[in-house]
Amino acid sequence: MKISVIGLGYVGMCQAVGLAKLGLDVIGVDISKERIAQINKKIPPIYEFGLKELLDELVPSKFSVTANIKKAISDSKIAFVCVGTPSKKEGSMSLVQLEGVCKDIGLALKKKKARFTVVVKSTVVPGTCRDVVIPLLEKYSGKKFPKEFGVAMNPEFLKEGTALDDFFNPDRIVIGSSDKESLKELEQVYSKFTCPVLKTNFKEAEMIKYASNAFLATKISFINEIGNICKKLDMNTNTVAKGIGLDKRIAPYFLRSGIGFGGSCFPKDVNALVYKATEMGYHPRLLRSVLDVNRDQPLKLLALLDKHGPLKGKKIGILGLTFKAGTDDIRESPSLSTIKELLMEEAQLYIYDPKAMDRVKKIFPHLNYLATAQDVIDNSDIVLILTEWSEFVKLNYGNKLVIDGKNVFNGQKPKNYEGICW
Ligand code: UDX
Repeated sequence: MKISVIGLGYVGMCQAVGLAKLGLDVIGVDISKERIAQINKKIPPIYEFGLKELLDELVPSKFSVTANIKKAISDSKIAFVCVGTPSKKEGSMSLVQLEGVCKDIGLALKKKKARFTVVVKSTVVPGTCRDVVIPLLEKYSGKKFPKEFGVAMNPEFLKEGTALDDFFNPDRIVIGSSDKESLKELEQVYSKFTCPVLKTNFKEAEMIKYASNAFLATKISFINEIGNICKKLDMNTNTVAKGIGLDKRIAPYFLRSGIGFGGSCFPKDVNALVYKATEMGYHPRLLRSVLDVNRDQPLKLLALLDKHGPLKGKKIGILGLTFKAGTDDIRESPSLSTIKELLMEEAQLYIYDPKAMDRVKKIFPHLNYLATAQDVIDNSDIVLILTEWSEFVKLNYGNKLVIDGKNVFNGQKPKNYEGICW
C-alpha cells in the first residue's frame, strides 16, 4: 500500500520513516526544496535519535520525497497530513498550512478515480476535521465524504528525542472517524502493533490529543508548584515526587520539577485549549493556572541569581538551549526566556549547547557562543544549567556557583550548588 506523508517536520519525518520501516511504500511531501534535497542525500533535516540510520536504510527504496503534492496523492492510497498548527498571538491555533494542504489534496482528488483517505495527524482543536477539513476537501474535489473519499483523525503522541521509539512502541493508537472504511484502512496500516487501538468519533480523537497534553502539562506545573513550596521549606522535591509517584494512581512519570515545560506542543496546545474553551463560554481556571505556574518557573531561577548581587556586567554561563535534551528544538525553550531576562539586566552571557547553537545564533547573533561546556564554566562567575544534557554532569565546576534548573546531578553535585526546587 502506497502512503503519502505531507509535511516533513518532527511528526511527519517520524511517521514517514516509521511506516516505511514497517514495510509500506512512503512518499514524503514537503514545500521546502532544501529539506527534500537533504533527505535525498540521507541527511536528517532535524536531529532525532535513530533517524539517520533509518534514512540510510530506507531512502529511496521505501521512502522517497517530493515537493509535488498532487503527484504524491495521485500515486498513493492514503495521505497522513502532518503540517504544523502553530499558535497565533492570542493563543488560538493557525490553520493556514492545514487549509492549504486540504485545498491541494482536494484539487488532486478531483482527477483521481480510486477512493482516497486523508488522515489528519496535525494537532487540531475539536471540530476541525468536521468543520474545516471535510468541507475544504469537498469544495476542491467536487466529491462527497464519506461516499467518495475518507477522512480520519489519528493524533500523534511522540516525544522528541525518543520519537522513533515511541512510534514503534506506542501506548495506544487513537483513530477517529465516522467513516467505517477509513477506520478499517487505518487498522490495516497499524496491523503490526499490539497496543490497544481506540476507535472514536472525530471530535473525541481531536480532544484526546489536547487532553493528554493538558494532563501532562498539569502534572508538571503541579510538581513545580509543590517544588516551589518545598524549596521554601528547605527540602528536596525529588524525594517528595518519588514518594507520591509510587502511588499507582499518580504514577512516577512527568513529576520532574524544574524550570517548566517548553517545546512545540505543551505551551501551544494548552493555550489553544484555553482559547477554544473560552470561545465556547467556559473559563478553564485550572488550565490557566498551569500556564501561569509554567510562565513564572524560569523566574525562580533568576530569583536565586538575584541573591548574589546585581546582574549588570556579571559573567553568566548558560549551559543548554533546547527545551529538553535529545533534540535540537528550541521552540518555547525556557532557556531562551531566561536569556532575554538576563540581557535586559545587562549580564554578560557565555553560551553552550551541543545541538542548537546555530539556531539560537539567528535569534541572538551577538552573544558569546563557546566551543565547549567547560569553556563556558571557565569564563563565567555563575553557571546556569537549563537543559539536562548528560555531558553537563561530568564537568569541572571548581568553586563556581552552579544553579541547576533541570536536576541533572544524580550523584555528586558541584561544591557550590543550588537547585531550583531542591
Ligand atoms: C510532548 C508529549 O509528551 C507528546 O506526547 C506529544 O506528542 C508532543 O508533546 P515533547 O514536547 O517532545 O512531547 O516532550 P516531553 O518529553 O513531553 O517534554 C515536554 C516539556 O516538559 C519539556 O520542556 C520537558 O523538559 C518538560 N518536562 C517533562 C518537565 O519539566 N518535567 C517532566 O517531568 C517531564
